[in-house]
Amino acid sequence: MKRRILNITCIGAGYVGGPTMAVIADRCPDISVTVIDLNEARIAAWNSESLPVYEPGLDEVVRRTRGRNLRFISQREGAAAVAAADAVFISVNTPTKTHGSGAGKASDLSYVEACARYIAEHANGHTIVIEKSTMPVRAADTIKRILATSPHGGTFDVLSNPEFLAEGTAIRDLEKPDRVLIGGEALEAVEALAEVYARWVPDQAILRTGLWSAELSKLAANAFLAQRVSSINAISALCEVTGAQVDEVAKVLGSDSRIGPKFLKASVGFGGSCFKKDLLSLVYLCEFYGLTEPAAYWQSVQDLNEWQKRRFAQMAAAHAKKRGGVVAVLGLAFKKNTNDFRESPAIDICNHLLAEGVKLRLQDERVDPKAFGEVLVDEYKAGFGFFREAAEAVRGSDAILVLTEWDQYTKLDWQKLSATAAPGVMIFDGRTVVDAANAREAGLSVFTVGIGETK
Ligand code: NAD
Ligand code: UGA
Repeated sequence: MKRRILNITCIGAGYVGGPTMAVIADRCPDISVTVIDLNEARIAAWNSESLPVYEPGLDEVVRRTRGRNLRFISQREGAAAVAAADAVFISVNTPTKTHGSGAGKASDLSYVEACARYIAEHANGHTIVIEKSTMPVRAADTIKRILATSPHGGTFDVLSNPEFLAEGTAIRDLEKPDRVLIGGEALEAVEALAEVYARWVPDQAILRTGLWSAELSKLAANAFLAQRVSSINAISALCEVTGAQVDEVAKVLGSDSRIGPKFLKASVGFGGSCFKKDLLSLVYLCEFYGLTEPAAYWQSVQDLNEWQKRRFAQMAAAHAKKRGGVVAVLGLAFKKNTNDFRESPAIDICNHLLAEGVKLRLQDERVDPKAFGEVLVDEYKAGFGFFREAAEAVRGSDAILVLTEWDQYTKLDWQKLSATAAPGVMIFDGRTVVDAANAREAGLSVFTVGIGETK
């Protein structure tokens, strides 16, 4: 019998579950989509005018679909939605384990396992269970084992359909993905899910693979992307001491069609909730299977990233401490066009500066200042303040760090800003976005990652 998916439930209303389900609902008006989450405040926010996730274009998609064929409800009311679903997506967090075997590297699957138990308990008839979260390879085995305990004799197919959206461009990525990946053994289930995406994704962009290939491809894709950033950042340090310019080098590399231009932007280090955790998950898997050298290789990508953040923080701290010890930090989000600061390089850099006794003046256009303050080390909490405008944050500062590539930082008027900063102030541009010529004309010294210091 050909299966059709007309009723979808997604567990997890986060950065992936919310936008992904909104786009599915938008593109498939005949499919009823329910998103459930344990976090009731988050569900309330999805049902409000102030969505919990900032993504360009997301408000419009949610406005079109919410109350039509998209709804957000709390987990307490979710049982019926699971029972009615033809397909249930698992889109919950899979962070690095903090305790138990593999702590510090392996993915914590406890949230996924809780979802599997919830589905097993409430599903009715036949249900396609879809891994949307990023999982270690062979995680589907664990899910299948739990589903097999279903007390009502429910039957299940498990598919892996990892998500490749990047934050800040999530809606564009979902509406026009390079590819959609569906891994699974049951052909009917694979095709039923493919039919959902086929409403707006060309068939040749819907890749079908085995379950394990799909699970591993997601981890490998993030590791390859992170590896490119670490590679260009490794080159950036060499540029700074040799007079080469990293943007010029990146342009040359990127014009080779075998290399391509993307993910060659030198930075203060990559951030975000996934690159580090997925790299560490891959390292753990390699170690688990006794593959010592591959484990060390992927670990080095992460180590280089830590080094890049540390050396940037040390340079800025050294400069500020020779003067009044006041540092303006422009940009806290891990990249532009998102309010997300999970694993943002700004966190480690701010913590390092605070530990050096520096006072921080923080600014970002989207990040919730209070929430950001919570992740900084406790004992230094008195050492920072938040400002809405970059011009305010810069006042009286001895060093100005640019840590996110927000468009507004490309247009800063350094003539004006230099008048209120401390004498001898230096800009540390961790994103190569500052108009260095304008800053130099205003008499400021600029250190740009991958270029070095220019006066
Ligand atoms: P998130 O933390 O923003 O959202 C996860 C949500 O799941 C939270 O709201 C949490 O309350 C909810 N949740 C956890 N356990 C639950 C349970 N048992 N029942 C109901 N709700 C539960 O995470 P995210 O950024 O959306 O990431 C989710 C997954 O997608 C991760 O595996 C991540 O690696 C992967 N991923 C993330 C991105 C991204 O850009 N953020 C992109 C691709 C893939
Ligand atoms: C990344 C991947 O790009 C997505 O395909 C994947 O789905 C997602 O992880 C995930 O699994 O969570 P995301 O982390 O949202 O997406 O954002 P990216 O654009 O990949 O940027 C990650 C980090 O690398 C950011 O801090 C960014 O500033 C940095 N970066 C990126 C660079 O420093 N240089 C670059 O050239 C590109």
